[in-house]
Amino acid sequence: MNRAKHIAIIMDGNGRWAELQDKKRVKGHEEGAKVVKNITTYCSNNPDIERLTLYAFSTENWKRPRLEVEFLMKLLQRYLKNELPVYLKNNVRFEPIGDIRAFSKSLQKTINEVKEKTAHCDGLVQSLALNYGAQDEIVRAINKLKNDEDSITEAMLSNALDAKHSVDLLIRTGGDHRLSNFLLWQVAYAELFFVDTLWPDFSTQDLEKIIKKFTKIERRFGGLK
Ligand code: FPP
Repeated sequence: MNRAKHIAIIMDGNGRWAELQDKKRVKGHEEGAKVVKNITTYCSNNPDIERLTLYAFSTENWKRPRLEVEFLMKLLQRYLKNELPVYLKNNVRFEPIGDIRAFSKSLQKTINEVKEKTAHCDGLVQSLALNYGAQDEIVRAINKLKNDEDSITEAMLSNALDAKHSVDLLIRTGGDHRLSNFLLWQVAYAELFFVDTLWPDFSTQDLEKIIKKFTKIERRFGGLK
């Protein structure tokens, strides 16, 4: 049976969830943050799952209205401050990915603090993708390696990326069937699950059902059975 060691999620549908209830889009993000908390706790209690990588803010999300971007930044800061004791209690190591230099100094400080204070935790690794885009990640990795005398190998490039581990199971909520510049290198052999459920409605039971299906898939990684 397959183990979903690394689960990655594109958390889509917050805005539509809110609009369906005549609420402001940001209400959907607020509900979405609660789901991030529940899903992380669920994964931290499942010994099969080693990594959970969540797409929280993409390099393209800056194109959203200023007020929505500002709300997301504040929500992230609040979330990280509140969750630090929970990460510690659940032995979760926080390893952000993405280029956080674009964020305010105060948000960068919070992100780095949570990273440092959970560095000793050896349970689940939770990575939030923050100002993350896979193409940007690959370009930054190549720039790190470009002065190397040797020609670049797959292992060297993989190791220079922010996210160094291949994904086993990728889930996208919200009904769309696309990758939206998320972990393009790491999903090479991931099993992809697209569900219509909007992120604020996504439950641990939904995740459990997907994992159950995933465990039964025959994964060949390009080889034969
Ligand atoms: C997509 O919904 C979601 C995002 C742009 C960001 C994800 C953010 C959260 C889940 C909440 C905050 C997270 C943390 C960790 C505090 P959308 O706005 O694109 O939804 P739509 O497609 O219905 O418009």
